Order: sequence, then structure tokens, then C-alpha cells
Amino acid sequence: MPIPSMGVNMKIWGISDTHFQNGQVDSMSKWGEVWVHHTEKIIANWNTVVGNDDLVLIGGDICWSVRLDQAMTNINMIDRLPGKMKIIIPGNHDNWWQDYDTLRKAMPETIHPLIGNALKIDGQVICGARGWISPNDPDFEILDRNTFDKEMVLLKQSLDAALDLDPVDGIHVLMHFPPFTTKGHQTPFFKLILEYPVITCTYGHFHVKKEWDALPKGKIQGIDFHLTSADYLENKPTLVWQG
Ligand SMILES: [Fe+2]
Repeated sequence: MPIPSMGVNMKIWGISDTHFQNGQVDSMSKWGEVWVHHTEKIIANWNTVVGNDDLVLIGGDICWSVRLDQAMTNINMIDRLPGKMKIIIPGNHDNWWQDYDTLRKAMPETIHPLIGNALKIDGQVICGARGWISPNDPDFEILDRNTFDKEMVLLKQSLDAALDLDPVDGIHVLMHFPPFTTKGHQTPFFKLILEYPVITCTYGHFHVKKEWDALPKGKIQGIDFHLTSADYLENKPTLVWQG
């Protein structure tokens, strides 16, 4: 299916870890003021900053649903928000996530999942993967090895697919886990990204100020890194790239 062309003034926004609740009892507000009515805050801020021709990168932990049919309430809510395209990857809490064909069939026109693939939208090339905790992280356990290996393969597949799309301006990488450890050290995901002409990388996953402070942000070796956890951003999508 051809992707509709966007205007030349397209902006790319990022947000992750929205943890939408979809009718469940509000259990998020116990985590602090930023989580009180956070869905309404995200919608209001999104409506304020995101234009209809813009692209939004949604970096996982989208909602608490455990089944795809439950998650569709949130997905349809995202579909109605401004932005011509919303690109999604899973977080570690998106238990409703399915294989590519199932998701693609279920998703509304404006929402595209990434699973080892890449997209070119009005000249901008987007790829990414969930990522995982890395072997050089102090919290890494032997049980993490399989998922880490799988996510490295998926990210490489997605980067290779991005390269095939002729990324004239460079590649935008969307991740859930940061390509840094909890101490802020570079991981094998970071080293893999460096092998490609990547210009931006968004990541989330973390929700604690001490961790936010330790995570590298801004320009590192030519790549613009953005921490996109919704609570870190005070529920407002952040500008990742502007044409
Ligand atoms: Fe999260």
C-alpha cells in the first residue's frame, strides 16, 4: 500500500510509555502528579503541538491491554489524533502485540507497526525495534540473553531495510529500550546504530529521575538522541526532527 506523501514542512514528534489504561481502574496516579489524568493531558498536548501533516514515533508501552481487541480502543484513539502517520513499536508491557500481518490488518490507515521493516514517508526513512537490556548492563540476567539476541537481529533487519530505502537525509531509529545501560554506558545496540547513517534515535522505558539523569541525550557521535518517556516529557510529544 503506498504511503501518502506529506508536506515539505513535516515535523517528526516522539513519545513513548503512554501506558494508556482503556477503561481499567486508574492505577497510574499513585506514581505521581504527572500520571493523574495523564491520558487527557497527552491528548490535549498532542492536539496542541502535532500538525496534520506530521509524523509521530510512538516508542512502546503504549497501553496496558493484554489482547489486541482491547488495545484497539487506544489504537483507534491514537488514529483520531493529529498526524498523518504514527509509527509504533512494542515496549516490554505491550502484551497485545502480534505478528506483522495480524497487526497490519488490524491497524487503521494512519498507524504502522515496525517489526524488522522500515518505512519511507515523504523522503524520511524510519526504522527501529524494541531493544532489550544489554549484557553490559548491571541488571542483565542470563534469561535476558535470548530476547537480547532476537532484538539485535530485528534492529539490524530494520536498519538494513532502511538502507535499502535510500535514506538521503539519514535514518530515524525508534526504540523502546535505550541503547544505553542504566548507568548511561553505550550498548551493542548503540554500536550497531553507529554502523548506519542514523541521524535521530528515540528511546523510553525508564520512569525514574535518577535513571533519566544517567541517560545520554542530545547529539552523540552525530546522532540526536531523545528520551521520550511520557512522564519525562510531562505528557507532551517532543520534537525529534523538522524538515
Ligand atoms: Fe514504560
